[in-house]
Amino acid sequence: MTDLELKEYLFQRRSLIDQALEAYLPPADEYPGPLHEAMRYSVFAGGKRLRSILTLAAAEAVGGQAEGALAVAAAIELIHTYSLIHDDLPAMDDDDLRRGKPTCHRVYGEAIAILAGDSLLTHAFALLSDEKLSLNPAKQMALIKEIAGAAGTRGMLGGQAVDILSEDQEIEPATLEYLHTHKTGSLIRAALLAGGIVAGASEGKLAALSMYGEKIGLAFQIVDDVLDIEGKAEELGKSPGSDKKKKKATYPALIGLSESKQRARELIAEAKEALVQFGERGEVLRALADYILRRQA
Ligand code: IPE
Ligand code: IPE
Ligand code: MG
Ligand code: MG
Ligand code: MG
Repeated sequence: MTDLELKEYLFQRRSLIDQALEAYLPPADEYPGPLHEAMRYSVFAGGKRLRSILTLAAAEAVGGQAEGALAVAAAIELIHTYSLIHDDLPAMDDDDLRRGKPTCHRVYGEAIAILAGDSLLTHAFALLSDEKLSLNPAKQMALIKEIAGAAGTRGMLGGQAVDILSEDQEIEPATLEYLHTHKTGSLIRAALLAGGIVAGASEGKLAALSMYGEKIGLAFQIVDDVLDIEGKAEELGKSPGSDKKKKKATYPALIGLSESKQRARELIAEAKEALVQFGERGEVLRALADYILRRQA
């Protein structure tokens, strides 16, 4: 897949996902207005839509249609956006810029930002459990269970807690790996499994998607840490230097910048190796793995 083809692919998938999000979110003028406005503000502030694109790409990689996985992809994006709103709060990372715009709490105040995050999370599960998904009930249960697990204390929230508890601490490499694989890797892996489950992937294909997801998930967060040092606010849409300011436990802080980049490269190579059984159908997922490594935003 050429760079141009990937660019077109990403553009096309983002617009599909944005249409779905538009359709599934409560209207901004629905009472109480500020709550629904705040939800929409953060969802439509921008964002790469990487996790939701991975859901669509995984469904296609196992022979399904992107359209069939769209509602599930939208739900993943809602959960991700909720996590960003809460991550930016003064009690957490205390950031002012997100997706190129002032953070949700900066615009709507902390209380509404907290509630908008809660609402996005809850709305995601309402969407996932809707009978309009027209999934086989056992499949739908498996999907909800996978995503709930990934978003919960044994996944993203466990990672977020360790991230906060590790500020200004000397931590073991294993703790750093836990923190990264959980706060970021869990939802990325679940996004892939969700696409696979919806499209009826075999156990073997799900295992491969899981392995690929673990590798790119960790690589994604290592690159995020690197970009917090080397990135530009105009491209990132968030303020670099945030990790240093909060004395975060990061890969560059623990093993240095060049080692971190090397680790990310290795993980991406391993992720692509996990896709061998997909043959040609793994092309998009392979291109997305490379994109994670070279992204500037
Ligand atoms: C930011 O995720 C939060 C992390 C887990 C590092 P993204 O970099 O995917 O953010 P958006 O969705 O593009 O804004
Ligand atoms: C955030 O990690 C992970 C989640 C939101 C779950 P970071 O705190 O590093 O993300 P950014 O850099 O603020 O996007
Ligand atoms: Mg954080
Ligand atoms: Mg943060
Ligand atoms: Mg970061």
